[in-house]
Amino acid sequence: MSSVFRSAHHDISFDDFDDLHAPRPEKTDFDTIVEGALSRRDLLRSSLIFGTTAFLLGTSALTSRPVRAASRLRFEAVPANTLDTVTVPPGYRWTIVTKWGDPLWSDAPEFDPVTRGTGASQERAVGDNNDGMALFFNGTTYVFAVNNEYTNRGIAYGNRASGLPETADDVAKGKAAHGISIFEIKPDAHAWTVVKDSPFNRRITADTPFDISGPARGHDLLKTAADPKGVIARGTWNNCGNGRTPWGTYLACEENFNGYFSIGDENYEPSAELKRYGIQTEDWGYGWAREDARFDVSRHPNEPNRTGYVVEIDPFDPESMSRKLTALGRFKHENAEVVVAANGQLVVYMGDDERGEFIYRYVSDGTYAEGANNSELLLNGTLYAAQFDDDMKGRWLALTPESTGMASKADICIHTRQAASAVGATTMDRPEWVAVHPGKAEVYCALTNNKNRGKKPNAGGDATPVSGANPRAANRYGQIVRWQPDEGDHTAEGFAWNLFVLAGNPVVHDDAFAGSENITPDNMFNAPDGIAFDSSGLLWIQTDGKDTNKGHFAGMGNNQMLVGDPETGEIKRFLVGPREAEVTGTAWSPDRKTMFVGIQHPGDKGGSSFPDGGKSVPRSAIVAISREDGGVIG
Ligand code: FEO
Ligand code: CA
Ligand code: CA
Repeated sequence: MSSVFRSAHHDISFDDFDDLHAPRPEKTDFDTIVEGALSRRDLLRSSLIFGTTAFLLGTSALTSRPVRAASRLRFEAVPANTLDTVTVPPGYRWTIVTKWGDPLWSDAPEFDPVTRGTGASQERAVGDNNDGMALFFNGTTYVFAVNNEYTNRGIAYGNRASGLPETADDVAKGKAAHGISIFEIKPDAHAWTVVKDSPFNRRITADTPFDISGPARGHDLLKTAADPKGVIARGTWNNCGNGRTPWGTYLACEENFNGYFSIGDENYEPSAELKRYGIQTEDWGYGWAREDARFDVSRHPNEPNRTGYVVEIDPFDPESMSRKLTALGRFKHENAEVVVAANGQLVVYMGDDERGEFIYRYVSDGTYAEGANNSELLLNGTLYAAQFDDDMKGRWLALTPESTGMASKADICIHTRQAASAVGATTMDRPEWVAVHPGKAEVYCALTNNKNRGKKPNAGGDATPVSGANPRAANRYGQIVRWQPDEGDHTAEGFAWNLFVLAGNPVVHDDAFAGSENITPDNMFNAPDGIAFDSSGLLWIQTDGKDTNKGHFAGMGNNQMLVGDPETGEIKRFLVGPREAEVTGTAWSPDRKTMFVGIQHPGDKGGSSFPDGGKSVPRSAIVAISREDGGVIG
């Protein structure tokens, strides 16, 4: 029963846990592929790297302007550090908006640092480990929606000797710490605060009912004892990145949903389909199956098929039932970047965050019309998976019964990974957030890292050879790939791609792991994860990487947020997070004078007391950043 992951602290990654308990094959025929990294000189000479070739993305003269000329990044870079606080540039300040466990209603208790809450208090309070977020404004009211991706067992159950849930109420607390928190906020002179008891305040948890929409609604694989029609799923959890629709709804993306299931019957063998999604004998230490049998896969084998989707929530209608959007596919969803194509079709770009999984695109059948009822657009459409070729071109491979050999569209929406494998999509270095440039048809995706690149296949057995968009074996630093759809049309089959940045450490390495030309000792980082454009077209880059500040990561300090200029390639560090935290999630006030940023899992190895300091319990938090002169951020 015990495992590394079941220790008090979250000290191995979700992927590492899956690797440990469901090891991938060690060797395949691609092991002959280049194992050692290319030399930096060779890499820079190659045609794959941003800033070094004649390859120009669209009309931007990407390589012709010196990085330092006429910088749009008008702030003083923040040096790397290992402080247990948030550091922003001179002239900027930050305040806390809210923290894990803060009550949303005045009849709920304040956070109790001794018990760290109960099931009842957590249901009435902000969830844990805030991730993707969005701010909605209807002209009078600001409503904030934020994902609560998971909870750190060692912190949430720090009142237990085991650092794990021990009672039924502990499990209830864990389930309530997950999901989505929605609440009204209001600005005052220098801060944004939560409006307790607002009619918009709402908690969505692992027990909230969802309407199952789209092609898989009612499919046999979605039917359970509690829901024999396969139309109402209970709960959402491990909601990572987010999205928002043009009609003002919030999208929350179910990522590592598998880690909450376990198998009680030792004679039960999960199907290959369940294994592809990481279903294993043990869960990650949450113990949900102990109190809720639907998390025991041997008793309810279809329950895992009801999660792994994007969910849609109306932040201004707390009474509405949210829905699971099966049309957008089932995988470890990172975020959902929605854009209206020139012809009006809705396009959603999405990453599947696991080593060697794929980048996806959804194209709606219908077209968007402002003011009309557009809700069908996320029910009927076609999924595609991306193929990145080494000639810096790529194309979208439609996932249809014909192309995949699968029985129906519904099957493709449930077993989307298998569909993408069937068409030979390109295995990627853990696709995290996707972001679309606000001013032109250009799309960016953070590929955070992949120690298995060139070493092991993905969970479906697909080879992961070193390739153009994933150019380094055992990739420890990550990169950001970007592409321009042909003719500027997000529905086009083809695109041209290059790498905006190859993260690395030029102090420690002089080979490919030194990174691309726009990485210097002053801005180096590892593991790009959250990315988002502001309305001016600057790319904000957040990291969730190694913060040891040693060895390959020496000089990088804590996880951080940087800003990139897509036109020049310049990258500058804007913020450093506290210890043992990742920086994730962004939102802006409509006037762009406040930027909201998430600090997730501070102290997940026991080394932080952010934000309250001293001996206090570390708590994930949402911070509001503004300029001291009241100007626009960036
Ligand atoms: Fe929840 Fe892929 O990060
Ligand atoms: Ca992430
Ligand atoms: Ca993360």
